[in-house]
Amino acid sequence: MDIKIKKPSKKLGVLIPGLGAIGTTFIAGIELINQGLSKPIGSLTQMGTIRLGKRTENRTPLIKDFVPIHKIEDLVIGGWDIFEDTAYESAKNAQVLSNEHIELVKDKLQSIKPMKAVFDKKYVKKLDGPNVKKAPTKFELAQKLMGDIDKFKKENKLTDVVMVWCASTEIYIEQQPVHETLEAFEKGMKENHEAITPSMIYAYAALKKGIPFANGAPNLTVDIPAIRELAKQNGLPIAGKDFKTGQTLMKTIIAPGLRARVLGINGWFSTNILGNRDGEVLDDPESFKTKEVSKLGVLDSILQPEMNPELYNELYHKVRINYYPPRGDNKEGWDNIDIFGWLGYHMQIKIDFLCKDSILAAPIVLDLILFMDLAKRAGLDGIQEWLSFYFKSPMHLPELYPEHDLFVQLAKLKNTLRYMMGEDMITHLGLDYYYDDV
Ligand SMILES: NC(=O)c1ccc[n+]([C@@H]2O[C@H](COP(=O)([O-])OP(=O)(O)OC[C@H]3O[C@@H](n4cnc5c(N)ncnc54)[C@H](O)[C@@H]3O)[C@@H](O)[C@H]2O)c1
Repeated sequence: MDIKIKKPSKKLGVLIPGLGAIGTTFIAGIELINQGLSKPIGSLTQMGTIRLGKRTENRTPLIKDFVPIHKIEDLVIGGWDIFEDTAYESAKNAQVLSNEHIELVKDKLQSIKPMKAVFDKKYVKKLDGPNVKKAPTKFELAQKLMGDIDKFKKENKLTDVVMVWCASTEIYIEQQPVHETLEAFEKGMKENHEAITPSMIYAYAALKKGIPFANGAPNLTVDIPAIRELAKQNGLPIAGKDFKTGQTLMKTIIAPGLRARVLGINGWFSTNILGNRDGEVLDDPESFKTKEVSKLGVLDSILQPEMNPELYNELYHKVRINYYPPRGDNKEGWDNIDIFGWLGYHMQIKIDFLCKDSILAAPIVLDLILFMDLAKRAGLDGIQEWLSFYFKSPMHLPELYPEHDLFVQLAKLKNTLRYMMGEDMITHLGLDYYYDDV
């Protein structure tokens, strides 16, 4: 591939369906960072480095200085929500950030008023709100979203925009014939087909308007062939799904380590309590099922029990999420891991993670915005497997298995950046330092 990266435009638009806990934590953070009041901790694009060339060359720039991505101050943000609250009121409700932080950026947050959402309670049973578009068909709802996008671009004088889904988890839906081709999908929208969810309508509208789409929820959204077809047709990147924060992040850090040491695992029980709106939505069994499927795949593909049946065939993996309002966004996640080692002797690992989900998710939103725009300018369209690092359930071609190991994902991401910029891949062989003939 001969990759030529187009120059970034002056500003980069960001459209977020769902101005809830993650959305507002992200927006407030961007403003606090822009004002020099805080730091983008957790963001690989801003604080991560990348080694280039041999170790003797001492070239390890910050990623943001290596690849031509937008600066944080270039971002212009808008979004949709089913509630009329501005980002200020929503941030207050979410109770992730301190009042002190929120008040420092009050003006900016108050200036972000959500556009009317495409929403149907059928797909998120525990929610309902007044700020919702009406139209006779799903196809017309998509046209209305496209109207919003045009208006947002015009008002802010933007050429480039990225969309990141930060709205609620929808009920579990499996791929059906209506998802198989773009033609069937468009016909389905005109006929209000049940299997076309609001998140798919946003993705369709974004891609029709030349906007890359990243999916932060476990919804089916861009995993369907019809949307992949549209992304390819319009030369646009898509990525998903389900931001990798909290318990699954820990799982993809610990499980590769246990496998690397060929230690056996026969049980992994994960449970957590959380009390935010996301927790309330997930209290509905149909939305929980979508989340559960996204979370359960992780261990199987890291441990590959078919290759190591003595170590992992018996693994009992259970994931529970309990809605517990007193905790708000301050989740507590417990993991009990039953492992065995030399001669089959049993051991246990216990993790108690006092976690702030949205604090872990906000830098992912930032990185995805900047990298999805970069991918578009580099001509990378369709599934962006190199962004697996950010997702619980990374997208992949049907004939491939997903890569879940966080460290392999990081190596893949960094090698993709090196490749884009014409630098050598890093293999970590290292024999060349010791022998002249390598
Ligand atoms: N918090 C995390 O770390 C994390 C990790 C992985 C995935 N996620 C997913 O990210 C999403 C957002 O999480 P959150 O904690 O911000 O939840 P939240 O409930 O605080 O925010 C979601 C917002 O989306 C709005 N919404 C729902 N349907 C909508 C629609 N069709 N159009 C526009 N707005 C809509 C809701 O009104 C709400 O304000 C959820 O799907 C969650 O499962 C969260």
